[in-house]
Amino acid sequence: MRKAALHNLGCKVNAYETEAMEQLLEAAGYEIVGFEEKADVYVINTCSVTNVADKKSRQMLHRAKAKNPDAVVVAAGCYVQAAADKLREDAAVDLIIGNNRKADLVPLLDAWFAGKEIKESITDLAGSNEYEKLHIKKQAEHTRAFIKVQDGCNQFCSYCIIPYTRGRVRSRRPEDVEEEVKILAEEGYKEIVLTGIHLTSYGIDFKDEGIDFLTLIKRLHAIDGIERIRFGSLEPRVITETFAEELSKLPKICPHFHLSLQSGCDDTLKRMNRHYTCEEYAERCAILRKYFENPAITTDVIVGFPGETEEDFEETMDVVRKVRYDSAFTFQYSRRTGTPAAAMEDQIPVDVVKDRFDRLLAEVQEISREVTARHTHTVQEVLVESINEQDPSLVTGRMSNNTLVHFKGDASLIGTLQNVYLDECRGFYYMGTPVENN
Ligand code: F3S
Repeated sequence: MRKAALHNLGCKVNAYETEAMEQLLEAAGYEIVGFEEKADVYVINTCSVTNVADKKSRQMLHRAKAKNPDAVVVAAGCYVQAAADKLREDAAVDLIIGNNRKADLVPLLDAWFAGKEIKESITDLAGSNEYEKLHIKKQAEHTRAFIKVQDGCNQFCSYCIIPYTRGRVRSRRPEDVEEEVKILAEEGYKEIVLTGIHLTSYGIDFKDEGIDFLTLIKRLHAIDGIERIRFGSLEPRVITETFAEELSKLPKICPHFHLSLQSGCDDTLKRMNRHYTCEEYAERCAILRKYFENPAITTDVIVGFPGETEEDFEETMDVVRKVRYDSAFTFQYSRRTGTPAAAMEDQIPVDVVKDRFDRLLAEVQEISREVTARHTHTVQEVLVESINEQDPSLVTGRMSNNTLVHFKGDASLIGTLQNVYLDECRGFYYMGTPVENN
């Protein structure tokens, strides 16, 4: 029996695809082993989002070859799309598989082992509207599953390479998503998280059939056994009155919305090629707060984008103070070769970026602590995910707004919904006490 080891880099969509490839290999009779072990096949599902991600991808490919020089080392994914020429020349890499070709992993390996001269399988994604069929039957977590429903992006934010590595928007057929979610529900999964490269674009290629993002959500909402539906990152513009009102009628929707801000300065947003203003963004948050009680709003912010002045940065700080995020991923702008922003003048000195980043992070954390604590001394429904890593007499679960809660319990509770009284908020999580379920 051949042994295969996989390693994922990058986002949740990539992670989904790595798991799908792992399950294809398993079904084909490969034994899956840890990446540190000696294997016959190493698959690295690469990422290219920053120059650092490129470097990491190369390092992992070389690490795999060093582990077993006789193994087949497979480079898959975004770095392949971005740097196929380099990989063709790289002696550590035996097979290169682009995005949209991961489903062919097993036949490509079969051909390789049969001695055929197959070095690569790459699609030019710029003109492709084919959605690659990949499926999962299980996931690393046992209570919630991240489901890929969409690929590609048409936005071309000026700092981002992803439209070039993932191609244009393609949506997954709703019946295909439904089928996968039903299987996962039968396996005991209670929560699904819908993910995509640009999730909000779901269905723009199904317009003629009248299928949009809301159609998909409603169909998944009807599946028995699934108790919670959460979304990955959403474009602020999707949050219209109608959309929010419709969502609020669906009790399984988690009141947790990740709306990427990126900058709180309209001029910077324009240079980023983001198609909203701060005023519009604030309106979308207000709509969410109108239709959902106490929703968790989270975001991403980049500081130090080319041309960002101290005043521009202060505008971002103002938005952060006004919206009062439950949490925010904060990033220092890093120049990604091949993007329009990398060629812009007025790149910001590293020490200035770092200083702004530190100030933003401190503000975000302080607000987050205050906001997270708003549920103290209330009873909340918690989906139990695992035994607590530090204290095995406790279990760890998640509120519908995504906040973690630890309370007394044992493994029999994993995968169940429990009512928990929140005794104390400790920064970003709660300690609680279970109360009788109704
Ligand atoms: Fe990286 Fe590709 Fe995801 S560039 S972040 S793996 S879409």
